[in-house]
Amino acid sequence: EKLSGNVAIDGPAGAGKSTAARLLAQKLGYLYIDTGAMYRALTWKALKRGINVFAEKQLVALAEETNIYLESTTGGILKVYCDGEEVTKAIRQENVSCHVSAVARVPEVRRRLVELQRKMAASNRVVMDGRDIGTNVLPEAPYKFFLTASLAERAQRRYQELLAAGQPAALEKIKEEIHKRDVQDSLREVDPLQPAPDAVIIDTTNLWIEEVVDKMLSIIYERHNFGTGGATNSG
Ligand code: CDP
Ligand code: CDP
Repeated sequence: EKLSGNVAIDGPAGAGKSTAARLLAQKLGYLYIDTGAMYRALTWKALKRGINVFAEKQLVALAEETNIYLESTTGGILKVYCDGEEVTKAIRQENVSCHVSAVARVPEVRRRLVELQRKMAASNRVVMDGRDIGTNVLPEAPYKFFLTASLAERAQRRYQELLAAGQPAALEKIKEEIHKRDVQDSLREVDPLQPAPDAVIIDTTNLWIEEVVDKMLSIIYERHNFGTGGATNSG
């Protein structure tokens, strides 16, 4: 039976959002949309231009003139483009990670990117991950998840990831960067990181990624069957 309705996934850095979202999109035949990549692409461009990340007006102007494009297919994001230039790898650099929260707190910057995100969801079924998807971008999505994990576990995951990519970094430094970003994302005035009232919260600290995805799938199908009345007990 075909599902109808988008999947929204939010949570702090390293909770497993993008990995889970990608696998879930594969299983459902949905498009995966990584909204964090969009904030990262804009931050990458600002840094390249030497724009101070606290210069709000300049950031807003930059957001207006920047063309961010996600080339995704069902089952996974392929490439991120900024004004036609491929920035898939560049936006993962530490310098971008350290400054992206400052860029993402500017209301007009968010407004512009959210508009793009809603457009992408209008023409496709999507699994979208970020910080404000369930609360703001797709409040009508029937399936909402909020993934969490302990700070130690999330830092450890990022540490392993960087090590595997041949870019080792100190665990303590990673922990600090992630924690700082969590605080900034949670305390900002516009669309802070927080679970939507109807989101299912999953603590992934002690779960394998496959377990997380299985859990999400079973919740999705449970809700789907319930939502369609389960054929029998609707009267
Ligand atoms: O993958 P990781 O957890 O490192 O972060 P990300 O999803 O790439 O997002 C990078 C940053 O973009 C976040 O720390 C937020 O500051 C911002 N962001 C946001 O404000 N709203 C979103 N919907 C997605 C990301
Ligand atoms: O998108 P987000 O920042 O929330 O996390 P991610 O990029 O999906 O996950 C960060 C790293 O943790 C990846 O290398 C995942 O393979 C790993 N991970 C894990 O080991 N166990 C999980 N339950 C989830 C993610």
